[in-house]
Amino acid sequence: MSTKLQPVRGTKDLFASDYRLFLHVVNTARNIAINYGFDDLATPIFEFADVFRKTLGEETDVVTKEMYTFLDKGGEEITLRPEFTAGICRAFISNGYTQHLPLRLFSHGPLFRYERPQKGRQRQFHQINAEILGIKSPMLDAEIIIMASQILEKLGISESIQLNLNSLGDKETRKIYRDSLTEYYRDHINSLSEDSKVRLQKNPLRILDSKDENDKKINLNAPRISEFYNQESNDYYAALKELLTLNAIKFTENPSLVRGLDYYEHTIFEFITDALGAQGTVIGGGRYDGLIETMGGPPTPAIGFAGGIERLMELVDFKNFDANVLTVTIIAIGERAEKESLAIATILRNNNIRVILPYQNQVGKKFKYADKINAKIAIVIGEEELEKNVAKIKNMLTGSEEIISIDNLLDKLGQY
Ligand code: HAM
Repeated sequence: MSTKLQPVRGTKDLFASDYRLFLHVVNTARNIAINYGFDDLATPIFEFADVFRKTLGEETDVVTKEMYTFLDKGGEEITLRPEFTAGICRAFISNGYTQHLPLRLFSHGPLFRYERPQKGRQRQFHQINAEILGIKSPMLDAEIIIMASQILEKLGISESIQLNLNSLGDKETRKIYRDSLTEYYRDHINSLSEDSKVRLQKNPLRILDSKDENDKKINLNAPRISEFYNQESNDYYAALKELLTLNAIKFTENPSLVRGLDYYEHTIFEFITDALGAQGTVIGGGRYDGLIETMGGPPTPAIGFAGGIERLMELVDFKNFDANVLTVTIIAIGERAEKESLAIATILRNNNIRVILPYQNQVGKKFKYADKINAKIAIVIGEEELEKNVAKIKNMLTGSEEIISIDNLLDKLGQY
């Protein structure tokens, strides 16, 4: 360990107002999810490695480069979750939730990917995550996209964000597309990166998501999935687009959008922004009808999305969200008042008022502390006040003072 104690690269401590902002993002998303009929679900932050390895795609960056996988002391191969969806499907199967379908599940929490840290990209990051299991309908796809945009709107950040949409079609469509891609890339095999040569053998669709500059150039002329949709895939996508338009959701069709994970089919979408530099995707998601069956569960259609909390936090206007919570302090003068102040504080707190006691010896220092914690109200009590069962209420912003009966304290504070 280095002599200077540091957090691990790519992790961050969240303190005070940063953490308030974090919770604001979580609560805003969760409250909207509740309006859409979601239940809360918390799954473990680690799973058997195969839960992710066998589902996210063996040629995805997440599986090949980014997973935190280790042997535990019992010799089990464990992975810190790099995303929610696979763990949620595992929970669905292992708990036999089939009889509860359809399920609407909201989660939030930390995820782990060994990526190169930069603005908006961490090794421990956090997501809000929504999944709906058991329904296949373009209307549901529209509904979940509307829900994601409502979250962005409620956070006050929708202005700077655009919705990108694509369809990967059904299995049959992707099989034909895959053959065509293989043929195309074979013609360019000598110019492909080493990684993409491997991808070509295992899953040529992954080359479309390559970060290599030369691969990107080759991708520009690659065949596009939209040329291969069968009737069903085409109809499904058309119905979704019509519903989004009817609901005034603006979107850009992006035929080269592929997403970084393999389990998707039909609808995929990303909400992106220019305001965060290179890490512009704030919410990503799509339909994954085959995933649960692949994992050994019953065939179960599903769709969902996840938003990166750190990226959402970057966009929220701090001043607008950080509502001024009423903070009260008690300035006690003299020993008896000092003792009484704890009982008064307890009554106020029982009535949902935030009270911070100053723990300073001198009256002047107590007032200084009141300023430091941004207390709006100081309740001043000394011998004289106690005798008369009154308190002096000082408004710290305006400086105005008022004597009121202790019995009326709660009513008075309720006016602030
Ligand atoms: P994803 O696109 O891998 O999808 O991640 C979703 C979001 O998580 C990204 O758009 C980004 O905002 C955030 N994110 C990802 N990696 C990082 C990182 N290293 N640092 C900070 N933020 C990051 C999924 O995870 C899918 N499970 C989404 C989904 C749910 N699809 C269906 N249901």
